[in-house]
Amino acid sequence: MSSSRVVSSVLPALQLARVQSEVQRYLEESPHSSYFRDSPFTAWVSKLVNGSYGVSKRRTVISSEVEAFLPACKKLYYHYLPSVVSDLLGRDVFPLPIRGTMLVEVHCYQEPGDTIGWHTDATKLGSAEHKVFTCVLCLENSSTQKLCVTDEGGVRCYEMTPGDIFLFEHFSVCHATLPALGEGEKRTIVTMVFAEHPYYDTLPAYVHDLAKNVSAYPLTEWFRYPAFQLNLLLVLLAVAITAVATAAVLRL
Ligand SMILES: [Fe+2]
Repeated sequence: MSSSRVVSSVLPALQLARVQSEVQRYLEESPHSSYFRDSPFTAWVSKLVNGSYGVSKRRTVISSEVEAFLPACKKLYYHYLPSVVSDLLGRDVFPLPIRGTMLVEVHCYQEPGDTIGWHTDATKLGSAEHKVFTCVLCLENSSTQKLCVTDEGGVRCYEMTPGDIFLFEHFSVCHATLPALGEGEKRTIVTMVFAEHPYYDTLPAYVHDLAKNVSAYPLTEWFRYPAFQLNLLLVLLAVAITAVATAAVLRL
């Protein structure tokens, strides 16, 4: 496949309707899902970890919430889309455990100015020859926003209607949601990550993704879910080991 593409009507109508109504109800009723506006600290850490980062303003239902509260969405990710996405890509890809990660998220652009700037997705699963893909599913769209990408063809922007999915590779496809949301507009999507090799082969890759997961969310989220507390503990442990090792080397 080319490095990015839009595909329409791949989901059965009933399955799409289940996910749409589940997400809509959750966004209306949930006391949990947070409105994220990136702080300079978050943007700085993410740029340090990812190398590329688009400042965002949007409402996000994080992976741990999807895992706990959105069964239709979870079923779509684990049971239905792996085969569909594999067929579309022409290679086998697999879903991943999502608690404490950024691998499956609902993003709702609902207030004027909501957007995400240019960035690349960067999940370090597998090794160089194993690719990782993001699958964006549009659930609702009453906006003029488009998903824009830069690849070998330059900047291209795609309109997405409910049920459309958009596939692109991690690391190589820079993307953004443009323009910023206008008055009275709304756009809701689900982003899902699939990997050819759904494991970490090196410790630096594992620590990179742990740090990315921890840095992406506000402090309140870190303490809400046990999976995040474990992530935080592991990152602190990695930092401490690195500091001790560095100190030992410098003394030699
Ligand atoms: Fe992205």
